[in-house]
This record gives sequence, structure tokens and C-alpha cells, in this order.
Amino acid sequence: MMRSVILDVDTGHDDAVAIMMAGRSLSIKLEAITVTAGNQTLDKTVRNTLNVCSALSINVPVYPGMSRPLLKDLQTAPLIHGESGLDGPVFTECAIKSEKEHAAVFLARKIMNKPSGEITIVTTGPLTNIAMAIRLEPSIVGRVRELVIMGGSIGQGNITPAAEFNTYADPEAASIVFSSGIPITMIPLDVTRTVSLTPDRLAHLSQVPGKAAELFTASMNFYSTACSKYIGESAAMHDPCCIAWIEDPALFTTVKKYVAIETLGVHTRGKTVVDMSGVSKKEPNAQVALTIDAERFWAVLEEALLRYHNLA
Ligand code: RIB
Ligand code: CA
Repeated sequence: MMRSVILDVDTGHDDAVAIMMAGRSLSIKLEAITVTAGNQTLDKTVRNTLNVCSALSINVPVYPGMSRPLLKDLQTAPLIHGESGLDGPVFTECAIKSEKEHAAVFLARKIMNKPSGEITIVTTGPLTNIAMAIRLEPSIVGRVRELVIMGGSIGQGNITPAAEFNTYADPEAASIVFSSGIPITMIPLDVTRTVSLTPDRLAHLSQVPGKAAELFTASMNFYSTACSKYIGESAAMHDPCCIAWIEDPALFTTVKKYVAIETLGVHTRGKTVVDMSGVSKKEPNAQVALTIDAERFWAVLEEALLRYHNLA
């Protein structure tokens, strides 16, 4: 049975790979893509999302959402994702346009109109759209089957020593979401950074036939170089891990823990404080991934790219 999924992105390079994986997934009925600012400004993250969908004939509606965090100023990531937010690939004229309805309004409307428990939301950027949808229509919290979040960290961050980029970008939104009661599966940096794209792996995947592999290769060439130059790491498949969770949860180990979001700390703002020992005695509010079988992840990704081999 395919799962109805709404993908919420801030399309940058790894978001683009998540879109590719979801676009022809055998497990996912991609209902729509909602877009927020994050890796780049909203106009650029929307354009990048449309370009990926147009290039790969992924025919789903794309809804523009929040152009800035709820309280913080927008802080983009041009060093890693470039001025366009998806530097590397060259796209032909984009044949599709985004919807007029705001992403948060769409999310609230769609979830209320669908049977309770039918919609899964996967977020690969800041949680601003989701927080706004919850504020617009609080009862969506009890109607969402699962909210899969690429974000946060149990240990070290990547944008500060304490915080991961997506929760750091909008801590207030993350706090609203994590305290809402919505059923959360958190895929943290500790897991996603173990899925790193080595040059040999990229060389292998670049041999996969079809447009998706071509787009993957052009994107990852830029992303890998930027990650190596500016953070001294190989390119990690952060966002695609969320799609892998939907496709095969057995790739992961998880624990149910209480997670709080730091919104005030001078050095820790945006930190996901995961109560691994249970010392807070608070009821768990998230299923937190601890590990992923990276080798099996790569097989899932390769199969996803191969599904576009016959795209003219
Ligand atoms: O920290 C990694 C996350 O931040 C990913 O979603 C990446 O796209 C950036 O948004
Ligand atoms: Ca992202």
C-alpha cells in the first residue's frame, strides 16, 4: 500500500535528491511538495524545486510557503548550496509553475480534507511551514499519520557546535512542532552524516543510466566539492535518509525519547535536546533514529535513480 506523502523542502542539493527518490518511489504517492526558505531564499528554493520536477517529469503541485523564519532573520547556506541554492546542474526552461495557495494554508486544508491518519509529512528544511499550519489549524496534529523530520542532532551540530541547520534556522518553529503532539520521527544529523558520498560512490552512481542519475551527478559534483572545502566532510545524504525511512524503516534503529528545542541559549539556540537517559521524566514526543545501514541505503538510492532510466 503506497503512503500519501507531502514533502516539505528548502531545495538545495540533498533536498533535490529526496525529491528524485520520492518522485518515482514504489512506496510513496507524492501528493504535493511545499517549499520554505532555508538553504536559500524562497524564490530560489521554489525555482529549484520546480526545476527538479520539470527536468524529471515529476507531476505534483508545488506550493510556496514561508519566506523567513517565525522570529529569527533568514540565514541561508550559499557556501554549501551556492547562490542559486542548487548550483551545478544547468536546467532548460522550466515548464511548470508553482501554485498560488500558500503552503501552510494548503497543508491545513489538505490534511483536514483527507481521512485522518492518511497523510504523512516529510520535512527536509526548517519547520516554519509546519508550525504555521499547526497554528492555522491545530486539529491537524491528530490527523497526520507521521511527521518525518530531517533535523536536529543528539550530539554535535553542523551550523553551530550545538545545533543542526534546520532546527537552528527556525528554533521557534521547531519548538511549536516538537511540543504539538504530532507523531514525530526525527532523523538527526548523527545518522545522516554517516551516509556520506565518497568519490568512488559518486563515480559508481554516475554510471546509472537516465536523467535522474545525470541530475544527481551534476548536483553532487558541486555539493561534494563545497562540503569538502567548507566543512571538511564528504557530502552527506541528509534529506534522502527521510525517504529511505518511508521506503524501508528496517534500515534504521530508533528509540522513543523526549526532545526539547532550545530557543534562548546564547551558544545553544536551535539545539534539539534529546533526553537519552530519561532524566527529565517527560513522556517521549519523538521516535529518534540512532543508526542507518548505509550500504543498504545506497542500494535504495540507486534503485530510485534507475526508475527514471526510460525518461525521454
Ligand atoms: O543540516 C542538514 C540540513 O540542512 C539539510 O536539510 C540540508 O538541505 C540543509 O537544509
Ligand atoms: Ca534541506
